Parts: sequence; structure tokens; C-alpha cells
Amino acid sequence: MTHLSGAERARYVQGMFGRIAGCYDLMNRLMTGGQDVRWRRYVIDRAQLPPGGRLLDLGTGTGDLALEALSRDDALRAVGGDFTVAMMRVGQRRPNGHRVRWAATDALNLPFPADHFDAVTSGYLMRNVVDVRRAWAEQYRVLKPGGRVVCLDTTPPARNLLRPFINFHLHVVIPTLGRLIAGASDAYTYLPDSTEGFLTAEALAERMRSVGFREVGFQRLMFGTMALHWGVK
Ligand SMILES: C[S@@+](CC[C@H](N)C(=O)[O-])C[C@H]1O[C@@H](n2cnc3c(N)ncnc32)[C@H](O)[C@@H]1O
Repeated sequence: MTHLSGAERARYVQGMFGRIAGCYDLMNRLMTGGQDVRWRRYVIDRAQLPPGGRLLDLGTGTGDLALEALSRDDALRAVGGDFTVAMMRVGQRRPNGHRVRWAATDALNLPFPADHFDAVTSGYLMRNVVDVRRAWAEQYRVLKPGGRVVCLDTTPPARNLLRPFINFHLHVVIPTLGRLIAGASDAYTYLPDSTEGFLTAEALAERMRSVGFREVGFQRLMFGTMALHWGVK
């Protein structure tokens, strides 16, 4: 499926998340040993939202990042945007799910005005979009000047001594969990394939700069298999 492109790939991604929506949160906790909860806190730390500010969490899925942000500020206005409605339905039923403003949204054509949000976050979105540059450009457009973008995603692992262990986790542990828990091993072979086929952390940062972001930086996490990127409009 990583060989697919354009609308065909977008449809595949949408269908896949629609099928695994019910098990998605449990799978995340199992695959990362619960570490993803901590990384999501880093994302919201980096977003530096002002009190009562406006957040867009793009590719929000079941709303993990939006809910983390809302847990810190009662007055925050958090929009969770995603093109898979089934994922957002699961999110709506979560504690405080009613506080997120859920919006059916394509990351490549955001239905929001320019200069609107104080921060745009995304968790495991950018690897899935069919046009990375356009997705960054749209996030840049809807941010206020001075607003922050923060992105958490998997990143191609480096070739080092840990590589055999990382490969085992990616190609054996994750698809097996996917088959046993979600009944969808294809969705969890897509994850390692799309990770290995994704831009390096350096190249992703370069794309951010190319649409205008400044103060771009990144940090690798989990033995270099995840990366947190940030930038300012
Ligand atoms: C791996 S899930 C991540 C969910 C959540 N952000 C998290 O951190 O767990 C990726 C989400 O991105 C959404 N997505 C992928 N491509 C998208 C696009 N072009 N526009 C909007 N959402 C998209 C999928 O529907 C899915 O819910």
C-alpha cells in the first residue's frame, strides 16, 4: 500500500483508520509500552499555548493531543480535525471528548481562515499525507504570526547496532499485535513500511523551512524511531 499515491493512497489510509478505530488507542499504548503518553505531553509543552488560546490538532484521530491540551486549560478552544470520521466518533465518547470541537478536515485543504490558530499540532499524521509540503503550507497558513507548529511522528531508524532489534519490533512485534488485537495485520505492516519510506527527520525539517517556518528544530525519541519537530510562523 505504500506504493499507492495521490487519492488512491488517501482512500487507503482513510479506510484503514476507519477499520482500526476501536482498537487504535489500546494498540498505541501496547506498541510504545505506554511511552506515547509522555511524548504527547512534550508536544503540548512545545506548543506553548496562551491561556484561552486556539489549538488545531490535525489528524487528531481519537483526540489524544487535543485532550491533553484541554486537560491543562479549561478555557482552551481545541479543534480536532481528521478525515476519518470513525476515529473522531471514538474520541467523542472519551472522557472530556465533548470538549473537543471535532471537524471533518482534509489536512491538504484546511477549512479554516488564515492567521487563526495559536498552535497546530499533529501526532502520526505527516507520514500519511500524500503531499507533505502542501500539508505544512496549510498549517502555516492557518497559524497566527508567531504561532507554533509541533509534529510527532515515526522516523526512519538509523543504521546502527540497535537496528536488528528495531526491525524485529517493527516487522514482527507490531504486525503480530495488530493481528491479535485489532484483527488487522495489514494496518500494522503499513506502519513500519510507511515509517521506513518516510522522509528523514532532517528532510522533514527542511520541508518545514521551505514553506516559511523559522526556528525549526527536532528531537529524536525512542531509540531514534520517533521524532518531534517544531517551528514558528
Ligand atoms: C495514526 S493516526 C493519529 C491519531 C492521533 N493524532 C494520535 O496521535 O494518536 C493518523 C490520523 O491521521 C488522519 N489522517 C491521515 N491523513 C489525513 C489527511 N490528509 N487529512 C486529515 N486527516 C488525515 C487519519 O485519519 C488518522 O486518524
